[in-house]
Amino acid sequence: MAKLEVKNLSMSYDGKNKILEDLSLSIQDGELVSILGPSGCGKTTTLRIIAGLLKQTDGEIIVGEKNISNLPVHKREFGMVFQSYALFPHLSVFNNVAFGLKMRKLDKKQIQEKVENVLSVTGLSDLAKRFPAELSGGQQQRVSLARALVINPQVLLLDEPLSNLDAKLRVEMREEIRRLQQELKMTAIFVTHDQEECFAISDKVAVMNRGRVEQFDTPQAIYQEPKTLFVAKFIGFENFIKVVGYDGEAYLTESNIKLAAQAKENTRYLTIRPRQIKIIETANDSENVVKGRIINRTYLGNSYRYTVKTSLGVLKVDDFEHDVLSRDEDVILELAVKNLLPLEN
Ligand SMILES: Nc1ncnc2c1ncn2[C@@H]1O[C@H](COP(=O)(O)OP(=O)(O)OP(=O)(O)O)[C@@H](O)[C@H]1O
Ligand SMILES: [Mg+2]
Repeated sequence: MAKLEVKNLSMSYDGKNKILEDLSLSIQDGELVSILGPSGCGKTTTLRIIAGLLKQTDGEIIVGEKNISNLPVHKREFGMVFQSYALFPHLSVFNNVAFGLKMRKLDKKQIQEKVENVLSVTGLSDLAKRFPAELSGGQQQRVSLARALVINPQVLLLDEPLSNLDAKLRVEMREEIRRLQQELKMTAIFVTHDQEECFAISDKVAVMNRGRVEQFDTPQAIYQEPKTLFVAKFIGFENFIKVVGYDGEAYLTESNIKLAAQAKENTRYLTIRPRQIKIIETANDSENVVKGRIINRTYLGNSYRYTVKTSLGVLKVDDFEHDVLSRDEDVILELAVKNLLPLEN
């Protein structure tokens, strides 16, 4: 396994539209990095370039110390799992997994050994003689994973491998992929548009938007401190307050209200999670208090979600401490400085 570096990738399919722009990622030996982003942002394109199935317009791929930017796909020794499992329907599980080894002209005994080993690791030993049509989706997915693992790849590339599975199986399989990746100490890239999935299994996450990486960080850092409006929206923040200036102590909002928050360069918005906005009894002198009126209420199970109209705009507030409040009630909200995050555009 090896360290993988993607340096300043650019890609255009037609010479005009840039699909990837100056995209860089650095993946340490044995790390699992996810690429997270909406449909069409360039995730599959990035993965196919890394695998050597597509040629970049610009930029480099480095594995270990070696520049592999111009190596053909079969010389890269990467394992790839596609969204559609792409199994050979006329071959048994054993032969699907053995295929890559036969292509590499290994002798029969070696093939037998390696395939048996990987079938055992992926829990498929009992299904070796079956054909793809006789397997469940989850089992097919395992075969596809086994097929990628059997060549002992330098890097494992997974493109939305769980998207055809139901919710429960997805969770099981993602844990299994993580377990295998850690056990075999593999360097891996996992593409998904599912935030929970990628936070659950990744060492680091690259959040992509329109062919660029907006933030590359640990899941915890991205969750707690998204850097940009796009990242914050993508991971589920809902309250955004536009700011127009900073006076050295507080941000001036569009509605002319001042809000104290951590000072950061290029701040265009402030954001706060609904459960971090507090409903308080009386306005105090503490900073960042705003009055509002409840315009909607929904029940979330362990809290109530209020939609509150304030002079800062409409804010979502989750409350689980107070008695239930009604529509049209007036409330006072506190947006504590420590919970108010500055965002770039
Ligand atoms: N062969 C191609 N020729 C021209 N444009 C393409 C080609 N393949 C992809 N694109 C375009 O490149 C952009 C990125 O596509 P890509 O498949 O990388 O997105 P993605 O992030 O994987 O999306 P999804 O989540 O839907 O799989 C899209 O606008 C897509 O239409
Ligand atoms: Mg894709």
